[in-house]
Amino acid sequence: MNDEELNKVNSLKLANQSSGNASLEQTSGITIEENTSVQPADQLSSGLFGWYAACSSNTLKSGSLWHLSMYNEPLILYRDKDNLARCIKDLCPHRGASFIGGDIKGGELVCPYHGARYSSKGECTNLDRITCQHIVDSNYNSYAKKIHLYQYPTIEKDGYIFIYYNGQAKTNLQDFDIQSSIEDSRTDSYGFQSAKYKFEEVCVDFKCDWARIIENHLDILHIFWVHGDTIPDKDVSRDVITSFNQKITRDQRQIESKYNHKDKSKGEFISIKFIPPGRIVIYKGSPESARYVQVLDHIPLAENRARVIVRHYRKFLKNKFLTKLIIFKELQQRIFYRVFSEDYMILKTQTFNQQMGYIEKDNVKLLGEDKMVQYYWGWLNNALKKDNPWGMHPTTSGTNSVHRDMKMRYPPENPKLADENNSKIIRKLLTRLLIPVGFLFLIF
Ligand code: FES
Ligand SMILES: [Fe+2]
Repeated sequence: MNDEELNKVNSLKLANQSSGNASLEQTSGITIEENTSVQPADQLSSGLFGWYAACSSNTLKSGSLWHLSMYNEPLILYRDKDNLARCIKDLCPHRGASFIGGDIKGGELVCPYHGARYSSKGECTNLDRITCQHIVDSNYNSYAKKIHLYQYPTIEKDGYIFIYYNGQAKTNLQDFDIQSSIEDSRTDSYGFQSAKYKFEEVCVDFKCDWARIIENHLDILHIFWVHGDTIPDKDVSRDVITSFNQKITRDQRQIESKYNHKDKSKGEFISIKFIPPGRIVIYKGSPESARYVQVLDHIPLAENRARVIVRHYRKFLKNKFLTKLIIFKELQQRIFYRVFSEDYMILKTQTFNQQMGYIEKDNVKLLGEDKMVQYYWGWLNNALKKDNPWGMHPTTSGTNSVHRDMKMRYPPENPKLADENNSKIIRKLLTRLLIPVGFLFLIF
């Protein structure tokens, strides 16, 4: 499905945003100004089904398969012969094999079991090669109709591959009733012009509940406490936590929390937006003039398994040569890995506590500062009830662990990733040092 086809299918735009700020609530250290003139937080118009940024464009190379899952359902992303991204359920409609170990030939997906090839539309293109001639002849029409890939709408924007996920892959993409416009998921629709920025990104997998990571990224309190020594920003330390005013606004599209310095001359410190189903945008300074912006996409791979694509847009250090010279990408990646590692044990154990039912209403007491998390919970609980995504592809304790056992993209689970990055840093540092030394050696 290309952009044009997809836009035809897109039927419903999200309702207009509303605004208006009113009452003040005083809490420990932070003042909360709340938007009361609109519907409550649980009336964000999107639920858990919709457009997910599932993979970055750079990651999806043509000729290779990218495996992921959504709410336990195994999926595959690949590029077809026109280089368009496709998302299919990882299930060959011949005998139900997975495409793991399969191939792309001439932009067509090839099953590793009996070699069935599928066009980008999902039709099997070599039926006669995988069945006996008499079967093809007598049953061709009915069989050909049955052998068709199960797909999800896919679109590529802003260097992301978005998939429209609703738990029900279909053989015909036209059959999807798409409830939200992809335009609302464009980075430019959040108040900053991404073209003016450069970015670095990493993709990491966590063994914890998807919602706990989103919560973690909405939670400013912990940034100072847990990451104060790692984030290279003088404003982020355990000592500055009480010096902000918080203002929360909610509308049908997003929940936003702005933190202003108590000293008004210093202006806005940070703002955080939650845009369902899985995106968080964090600005340093106001969105229009932010020096850097973080876009975090959260992908609910499976129970106890979530993926985050974190992209760090910056307005500074845009010169490509300089960035390469100072090994910026790898050093940035190192910081990302370290920041996420600082959260990891907290997230895993908090997931356990939540699964045991310990994080119930009366067991935990939220602070005023946790209002953002509270609003998120409100939305999540309603969305879980309405969409029930975890109920669509449930696994049991007896389910084969093949997908759970896949290599994770995260150093604490897969130390090779950090080792590779560190050796890249050392190698590049040495080359940068050796070139001038060699040059001097030649001269003298
Ligand atoms: S299961 Fe895929 S070709 Fe047979
Ligand atoms: Fe964190």
